[in-house]
Amino acid sequence: MIGRKNVGRASPLFLVLVGLGFFFATYNLLTMVIHNRWKGVPDGLDGGSFSDLMLRMPENVKTTEGTKLLFHVALTATDAPYNKWQCRIMYYWYKKLKDLPGSDMGGFTRVLHSGSPDNLIDEIPTFVVDPLPAGLDRGYIVLNRPWAFVQWLEKATIDEEYILMAEPDHVFVNPLPNLGHGGHPAAYPFFYIKPAQHEKIIRKFYPEEKGPVTNIDPIGNSPVIIKKPLLEKIAPTWMNVSLRMKDDPETDKAFGWVLEMYAYAVASALHGVQHVLHKDFMLQPPWDLEIGKKFIIHYTYGCDYNMKGELTYGKIGEWRFDKRSYLGGPPPRNLSLPPPGVPESVVKLVKMVNEATANIPDWETE
Ligand SMILES: *[C@@H]1O[C@H](CO)[C@@H](O)[C@H](O)[C@H]1NC(C)=O
Ligand SMILES: *[C@@H]1O[C@H](CO)[C@@H](O)[C@H](O)[C@H]1NC(C)=O
Repeated sequence: MIGRKNVGRASPLFLVLVGLGFFFATYNLLTMVIHNRWKGVPDGLDGGSFSDLMLRMPENVKTTEGTKLLFHVALTATDAPYNKWQCRIMYYWYKKLKDLPGSDMGGFTRVLHSGSPDNLIDEIPTFVVDPLPAGLDRGYIVLNRPWAFVQWLEKATIDEEYILMAEPDHVFVNPLPNLGHGGHPAAYPFFYIKPAQHEKIIRKFYPEEKGPVTNIDPIGNSPVIIKKPLLEKIAPTWMNVSLRMKDDPETDKAFGWVLEMYAYAVASALHGVQHVLHKDFMLQPPWDLEIGKKFIIHYTYGCDYNMKGELTYGKIGEWRFDKRSYLGGPPPRNLSLPPPGVPESVVKLVKMVNEATANIPDWETE
C-alpha cells in the first residue's frame, strides 16, 4: 500500500507519466498519417500519394474515460438488387460484431431512398425516405444521399448522439469504436480527394473569406462518425452544394463520380467542421493487403488474380471477386477462395461474404 505521504511526493512524476501516457495514446490513435502505399491507380482515378496530406489534430481532442457513447449506423441505399445483397451482408456483419468488446455500435438503420418499402424491411431495420424529384439527380444516383440524410435526421427518432455514415459495400471486420468521440468527427482520408489541386473550382463554393482551401478535408461523407447536431447542420448544405456542383458543367466534369464526396468535404468546411483523419478506419482490397487493426473492409475495387496469386488489376483475372459481377442479383453462396499467394485482405473478404451468404436465409431468392 502506498501511504498518503508517498502519494503526495510521487504525484508530480505521476502526473508527468499520466500526461505522457495520454500523449502517446492520443498520438497512436491519430497516427493515420498516411504514407504512400498505393500501388495502383484504381477505377481510373488519378494516382496519388498521401504524403501531401497534412494531419490536422484539433487542439481539444479529449478522452472521457468511462463513458460509452454509442453511434448509430446509417446505411444509405436503394432498392436495386445490386444494393440489396450488399446491404444484407453488411447488416449480417454488423449484428455479429455489434456486441463484441471494443464496439461502440448502437442501432442500425438502412435509409432507403427509393421512396417505398422493399422486401427487406423485415430483415433489416429500414427508414424509407423520398428520392430527389425526377431528373434532379441527372442520372447521378448518389446525389440522393444528402437528401436522404436531411429527411432521416428530420423525421426519425435516433437514440444515439453519434452517427456513422456507411455504405452498402462496407463490411465490419473488427469491432468499431466511436472514433468521433470527443466531438471531432472521424473520417477516412481518400488519396484521390485533393481540394488544393482544384482551387479554382473549389472557390466557386468555398469563398476566400472562409479561409484557405486546405481547410477542406480529403474525405467523403462515408465513412464518417459525427455528432448528430453537427450532421444536422451539414446535411442541408451538403445537399445544396452537391446540387450546385452538379449544375456547374466545369465542376461536374472535373469531379465526375466523386462530386458528392467533394460536396460533403466543402459543406463541412463551410460550417467550420474539421475531421480527424483515420487511416485505419477502412481498408480497400486489393490495395491494402492486411486487415491488422482496421475496422471496415470497403470492397469497391475489383480483385483480379492469376492462379499464381498475382494481381492482374484492370484485366479480368483467372480468379476474381468484383461486386460489379453481380449487378443484377446476389453472388452465389460458397464463392471459390482465391489461389495461394493472394493477400489476406482479399481472402478474408471472400470468407466473410461466404459466411454471410451461408447464414442469411433465402439468399439466392433475392
Ligand atoms: C442553395 O442555397 C442558396 C443560398 O442559400 C440558394 O440560393 C440556392 O437556391 C440553393 N440551391 C439549391 C440547388 O438548393
Ligand atoms: C464449397 O465449395 C467447395 C468447392 O469449391 C466444396 O468443396 C465445399 O463442399 C462447398 N461447401 C458448401 C458448404 O457447399
